[in-house]
Order: sequence, then C-alpha cells, then structure tokens
Amino acid sequence: MPFQNNDTQAHPFIKWVGGKSQLLEEVHKALPADMDTRRHLTYVEPFVGGGAVLFWILRQYPHIEHAIINDINPELICTYRAIKTDVELLITELQTIQTEYLSLGADSRKEYFLEKRALFNAKDNSGNTTSALFIFLNRTCFNGLFRVNAKGQFNVPHGRYANPRICDAENLRAVSRLLQKVDIHCGDFAETGCYAGCNTLYYLDPPYRPITSTSSFTSYYRYGFNDADQIRLRDFCDEISKVGSMFIASNSDPKSMHPEENFFDTIYSRYTIKRVSATRMINSKPDRRGCISEIMISNVANI
Ligand SMILES: C[S@@+](CC[C@H](N)C(=O)[O-])C[C@H]1O[C@@H](n2cnc3c(N)ncnc32)[C@H](O)[C@@H]1O
Repeated sequence: MPFQNNDTQAHPFIKWVGGKSQLLEEVHKALPADMDTRRHLTYVEPFVGGGAVLFWILRQYPHIEHAIINDINPELICTYRAIKTDVELLITELQTIQTEYLSLGADSRKEYFLEKRALFNAKDNSGNTTSALFIFLNRTCFNGLFRVNAKGQFNVPHGRYANPRICDAENLRAVSRLLQKVDIHCGDFAETGCYAGCNTLYYLDPPYRPITSTSSFTSYYRYGFNDADQIRLRDFCDEISKVGSMFIASNSDPKSMHPEENFFDTIYSRYTIKRVSATRMINSKPDRRGCISEIMISNVANI
C-alpha cells in the first residue's frame, strides 16, 4: 500500500500549511516512469516545509542514495538538523515540555504557551531548545499554523487541544534515520540550482499564489512570495531543465476561481500542466474549506 502511514514509518513531525499528504498519489503518478529502477538519482526539495513528499519518496524509493532539502524558514531547518544530528537530546527536551504542559489546567496552559512563545521569539536559544520550542508551539498553537509578523516573530495564538501529542519519540527516531542521507540547507530556493544535472529530480512546492484576496497564505516567512518570485521560480525551472534535470512543481489553480486567469498557463507554456483536485484546510472558516483544484507542472513526459 504505497500511501499508508503508520507509526514505524517516518512521517511529518509538524503540521504545515500547504502540506502535501493529500497529493501524494498525484505526485506518484507524475514521477518518471523508470523511478523504480533508476540508479544514483539525486532528489532535491527546495521548499521542503513539513516534508510530506520527502518522507514518502524516501520510504517508497529506498534506493535513492542522496537527497537535498532546503527551506527559507530558519527555525524549521534548525529542527530538521537537530533531528538528524541529536534526536535523543531533542526527545528529552520535548518530553520535559510535554510533562509540564499536560499537567496544567486550561488557563495555566495558555500562560505556559505564551511564555514559551516569547522565549522562542527571543531567538537566543541553543539549536535543540529552538527545535523543541518550535515543535511544542506547532503542536499546541491554533490550527498548527506557523505564521510570522513583519518582524519575523511567531504570532499564532494558543490552540486549546485536550491532549496534544507533543513528543512522538518513535516518529522522530524514524525521521532521524531517514535524514542520515539528506543534506539540509536554509536559504532561497535558487541556491539549490547547483545540484541540477541529468540524474536529478526536483519537487518544487512554493507558497501558493493566492487565488482570492482572502485565501492568501504566504506568511511562512516575513518577506512573502509574490508574482515576481513565481516568475523567478519559472526561470529556475528553465535553468535546471537545460542541464537535464526533471522537475515536478505544484501550485494553486487560479482558473478554479477565475476561468479567464492564465498566469501559470502563460508562464509555464512550454511544460505540461495538469489540474488535480485537493482538499485545502487553510481557510479559517470551516464552511469555506473544501475541494479546489491545484496544478502540477512538469517537464517529465508522463505527468
Ligand atoms: C507550500 S509550503 C511547502 C509544503 C511542503 N511540501 C509540505 O508537504 O509540507 C512552501 C514552503 O516554502 C518555504 N519558502 C517560502 N519562500 C521561500 C524561498 N524563497 N525559498 C525557499 N523556501 C521558501 C516556506 O517556508 C514553506 O515551508
């Protein structure tokens, strides 16, 4: 069963807006036809976020010997590095936080959350403490969002879950094992262009282009991601394609709201574009969440 998750398999250790767990089947269909037998393939994910595709692909294709991940969010990348290099220390810190938090009543939990949020925003913690705080805040904040204000400060309120799982030690260890063959970078996606080559596959999942003025969520990082960045990403696809790399990219489908909108069809006119349906949970109003279509763009023949 290719799309099954269970506790012994590494899966995302945080909730992440735009997480691709529900699109894995579409990503699977878009992969090169010889994916099972291709040797020495390098896999690159320049917008790794919660890593739903990364973990799935590394589990599904264990013969991938080398992968590179990148994201512009420094605390997220610090957490990937802590899991890779010292997962037991991170587990110990998380277990302490979990025991303290779960022993408190509702009001005290909120106070505890706000204290930890202030500590996280002070940004003078060790790498492991930053990572433990990052996971704790993600597990206990409203909707598991990571959102920052213009000063780069995490500002999501407390979430009031009855019994949040703050430390999933078994999954963290499974993730750590998988990350041993992964190089971890923090920066702009364009910096991963140096890995392009004829046996490299990129999965590109940038912040989606907003399809309505209220659906926008590009605040993973304080500088956002605008149309100029989307065009910069298209240029990046052109550059990596020229040297023989394969790519699959995801984005929103502006046509699902505005049939006359041709932004992606125009900028990616020389590639294949496929429309797929996906359930997105980002709208804060439950009645507005539902199936919208998204696009997958690729230079791989079988998309
Ligand atoms: C749609 S999310 C990726 C979600 C991921 N595929 C998953 O399954 O969780 C987009 C990611 O791009 C990152 N990002 C935003 N601007 C970036 C940039 N210029 N370069 C690299 N990463 C960026 C964000 O921090 C965010 O994690």
